[in-house]
Amino acid sequence: MKPVKIGLLGLGTVGTGVVRIVEGNQEDLSSQVGSPIIIEKIAVKNTEKDRVIPIERAKLTEDPWEVIRHPDIDIIVEVMGGIDQTKEYILEALERGKHIVTANKDLMALHGSEILAKAQEKQCDVFYEASVAGGIPIIRTLIEGFSSDRITRIMGIVNGTTNYILTKMSQEGASYEEVLAEAQSLGYAEADPTSDVEGLDAARKMAILSTLGFRTNVELKDVTVKGISAVTREDITYAKRLGYELKLLGIADRSDDEITISVQPTMVRQNHPIASVNGVFNAVYVHGEAVGETMFYGAGAGELPTATSVVADIVAVTKNLKLGVNGVKAIVPYKQKRLQSDEQIFSKNFILLHVDDKAGVLAQITQIFAEYEVSLASVVQQPNEHNPDAEIIIVTHNASKASMDKVLKHFESLNVIRRIKSVYRVEG
Ligand code: NDP
Ligand code: HSE
Repeated sequence: MKPVKIGLLGLGTVGTGVVRIVEGNQEDLSSQVGSPIIIEKIAVKNTEKDRVIPIERAKLTEDPWEVIRHPDIDIIVEVMGGIDQTKEYILEALERGKHIVTANKDLMALHGSEILAKAQEKQCDVFYEASVAGGIPIIRTLIEGFSSDRITRIMGIVNGTTNYILTKMSQEGASYEEVLAEAQSLGYAEADPTSDVEGLDAARKMAILSTLGFRTNVELKDVTVKGISAVTREDITYAKRLGYELKLLGIADRSDDEITISVQPTMVRQNHPIASVNGVFNAVYVHGEAVGETMFYGAGAGELPTATSVVADIVAVTKNLKLGVNGVKAIVPYKQKRLQSDEQIFSKNFILLHVDDKAGVLAQITQIFAEYEVSLASVVQQPNEHNPDAEIIIVTHNASKASMDKVLKHFESLNVIRRIKSVYRVEG
């Protein structure tokens, strides 16, 4: 039984977990695939750095090309991150007939179609289960589990860092900055955590999921993105008071083959299962025409949960190697992409306004909603605890994005409105 040899690019949070699982579960793994799995070479930035696991010094290199060009390596496992240079490594590895396992959503969301096309040309596998929702096998589920159905909605918490931050702010009243630092030290956040908190990481994951679920090529530019950096404890308090939790939700909807995808902080009804997904946990809700509602839950980031998905991909590639069927599973999106217009995108909305505390203000505001045919579910006015303004909290019924944009634009020119403090989508 010839061993299967792995070249690892990266030995950080995820890479360390991959080594631990491959070594710790070797017996189970090799019995599943029929040969030992060996980590042959590992590229890191700094070979002198102290490692949290024992690693043979001779296996380390600071030159990723040494791993890519290594003649004995069958599978490249890319867990170092990066986009342009990393793409070069992956394309060259494929050119050399090596299979790829990656956790890199940035790369797959931006260059997935080029990489998958190259893989097909070279009859190689490219698996990227860990790139979305860490330890939840959601990519395999979309490709295989739902192959017979037509998916109409994918909705989820797909970023562990922001869910960790929002949970701590909600449950412990912790400050945003303090919790972000904690998430970074736990290895959840990206090298540049801006991509977590500004929603880009979640947007890339939603582009990957909706490409697979809707079988059309969803690009990052197709995803409307708003992050959590402007969320305040006050917003979270209001959400709770009204019976909601504030979550960074990715929502991808399909209706008559027209699709819309967004990532935004959303008020989720406390009785919806997604509202109780806390900490670094992720959850993806999938609705299919035939299957109805399904939901998948698990750790969305962190060393071992993410490495579990990476190593499961190594097993899948290795089984294909033994069967001689690599490169046949690539899902090539075939449907023409049609995006919904702002008139077709509907949601409920929460709006918090700071207004002059005087007669007739509420009437002016409700008049504007009426003008753009936005119907209101509830309106509450109360004095502001900290200044002489009044606060108006409004929840709308379903309204089109086009109408809501017009309402908010009109509000900007209304003298009695001091500040549009917050606007959030409402689910459930
Ligand atoms: P880390 O920053 O912890 O680790 C990156 C590793 O790559 C380090 O070992 C680093 O070397 C090495 N590296 C970076 N640049 C180079 C380079 N140019 N040449 C050689 N080696 C390099 O990242 P993570 O493990 O957290 O993330 C890795 C990938 O997995 C990313 O794409 C991330 O988005 C994705 N991911 C991460 C998850 C998580 O929970 N952390 C979850 C899901 C996906 P050195 O150790 O010497 O610094
Ligand atoms: N930074 C990402 C997150 C890692 O927090 O979800 C997992 O992709």
